Amino acid sequence: MSVAVKLTNVVKRFGALEVLKGVSFEINPGEVVALIGQSGSGKSTALRCINRLETIQDGSIEVCGHRVEDPKLDLRTLRRDIGMVFQSYNLFPHMTVAENIMLALRRVKGMRKNQAFEIAKQVLAKVGLSEKIDAYPEQLSGGQQQRVAIARSLAMQPKVMLFDEVTSALDPKLTGEVLRVMEDLARGGMTMIVVTHEMGFAKRAANRVIYMHTGKVWETGGAGILSNPQTPELKEFMAAEL
Ligand SMILES: Nc1ncnc2c1ncn2[C@@H]1O[C@H](COP(=O)(O)OP(=O)(O)OP(=O)(O)O)[C@@H](O)[C@H]1O
Ligand SMILES: [Mg+2]
Repeated sequence: MSVAVKLTNVVKRFGALEVLKGVSFEINPGEVVALIGQSGSGKSTALRCINRLETIQDGSIEVCGHRVEDPKLDLRTLRRDIGMVFQSYNLFPHMTVAENIMLALRRVKGMRKNQAFEIAKQVLAKVGLSEKIDAYPEQLSGGQQQRVAIARSLAMQPKVMLFDEVTSALDPKLTGEVLRVMEDLARGGMTMIVVTHEMGFAKRAANRVIYMHTGKVWETGGAGILSNPQTPELKEFMAAEL
């Protein structure tokens, strides 16, 4: 696999509103990209286009060999390769942690219960929550619930993971717990696109930073651009983030 994710001149409009104005970037397997930018700059829309929660009006998107803009694309095969975690964790409240993780393994992958349970145990260990396997979501902190949501996504063994502001509903301590899990994943070689306002995380974990502004890739480079921005817009953005 040469490239994990490649966007070429992607244009996305909602009616007359052009939200992505020719966005291009490439991500290699194992790379961690921090996608940053002001509210409304198009970060979530870009992620949603990558796993075809939105269709695009022009350009092309390739993910692990899938042509995402192809109307004949089998969405199940695409989504098998992409995991996505959002700000809201959306665990089923009437199911235990194990059951939440096992659900898609059983339904989508048709796995037997024993096998799915083994995987649930493995991914919970990865996010440091082995002891919560029989707990219900309401018995967990927000940070723990978010780690379960990450574990649930990992259980499907995606090739690429998309994270959209997964810590923005959490207080600083819980944020730290979740970011540590994501840094472990990054070190473990997972290909990740992380929309975040956590500049510390971006500096520590990202191979590359993409700064979006008004629907365009405005500035991109190594994490060094965060301390040494080249454009006035990123300079101003960084000043506001501190
Ligand atoms: N379903 C939709 N219909 C119409 N406009 C939309 C839709 N989704 C997003 N937009 C618009 O697209 C623009 C980009 O939104 P997007 O959610 O991608 O921004 P963002 O960079 O993720 O912002 P934030 O940091 O606030 O999450 C905004 O102007 C938004 O209002
Ligand atoms: Mg967003």
